[in-house]
Amino acid sequence: MLPAAVRPPDGEVITAALATGTRVAGVLVPTRLTPDAMPTLWSALEVWELHPMLGEHGMAELVDQWRAVMGRLRTAPDSSCLVTWPSRDVGAARVFLDHGLVPLSTLAIRTGAPLLPSPGALKVRRAALRDLDTLLPLALAELEYSAMVGGTVLRPGAEQVKRAALARHLDQGDPIWIGERDGIAVAMAECWYNESITGSWSETRLRHGLWGYVNSFSVAPSFRGAGVGRELVSVVHREFAAAGTDGTFLYFNPPNPLSTVFWARQGYRPLWTIWEIRPASALR
Ligand SMILES: CC(C)(COP(=O)(O)OP(=O)(O)OC[C@H]1O[C@@H](n2cnc3c(N)ncnc32)[C@H](O)[C@@H]1OP(=O)(O)O)[C@@H](O)C(=O)NCCC(=O)NCCS
Repeated sequence: MLPAAVRPPDGEVITAALATGTRVAGVLVPTRLTPDAMPTLWSALEVWELHPMLGEHGMAELVDQWRAVMGRLRTAPDSSCLVTWPSRDVGAARVFLDHGLVPLSTLAIRTGAPLLPSPGALKVRRAALRDLDTLLPLALAELEYSAMVGGTVLRPGAEQVKRAALARHLDQGDPIWIGERDGIAVAMAECWYNESITGSWSETRLRHGLWGYVNSFSVAPSFRGAGVGRELVSVVHREFAAAGTDGTFLYFNPPNPLSTVFWARQGYRPLWTIWEIRPASALR
């Protein structure tokens, strides 16, 4: 299910020699976020991302060199080293663990899984801009939970950043659904479409095609574990399928005890694992 490899972005090239005499390389790309940027919800403010360029061998040697390069840099306290790699390449996983990187997030996809019926009392409807104040507490409940089990950072401005992002997506008509029980909003799914085409960001992660993306999925704390999430996501999958998508994708945090089992049950499989260490100076 991996897409074809594409050229890495511009950055500092790191090389390493293997015992066989061949060389491998990677590109190191630093990114600094402004405080109002949406990725501040889940990312360190300064990210040092390695884009490895190698085949079957050489990850150990390359990460050793990455470590040496990081040791010469001055990095911020709110920073991370990050590398995204195919989840099933477990040889590389071993190398990342040995250097202190943790699998903080997984990009999982669902393609061709059957559409499950969702019997139940949940009323699901598309949200509009006037629902912003209803959606926000549900979105923040998800952030609060994810901050305990993953990369999410509850910064002082998180609520404003989330509110602005939700408003933007509602305003441009992206699919956001609310699940209601007895007229009370108990769940939300903030989604949008993503087209993986030549030159797009998503072609580095997903095969070309039209994808449904589940950005934020939240069930109110006292309603969790009672089938609400299952009912809501079955509507999301049906609507995305009806719109002609080739599949859906999302991120979850491997240490999240609720979402890991939930998404696996809903037909999602790990494709890419995002390995991180915070702060960047902790890479060993
Ligand atoms: C993850 C979440 C959206 C799931 O929604 P939910 O309504 O709690 O899930 P459901 O009750 O529909 O459970 C569906 C399946 O998940 C599994 N599951 C749910 N809660 C579980 C738990 N506490 N332990 C083990 N398995 C669990 C069950 O296998 C269940 O299958 P079943 O219905 O056949 O028994 C919800 O728990 C939540 O909002 N969690 C906090 C925020 C979060 O993690 N969001 C997702 C970020 S990616």
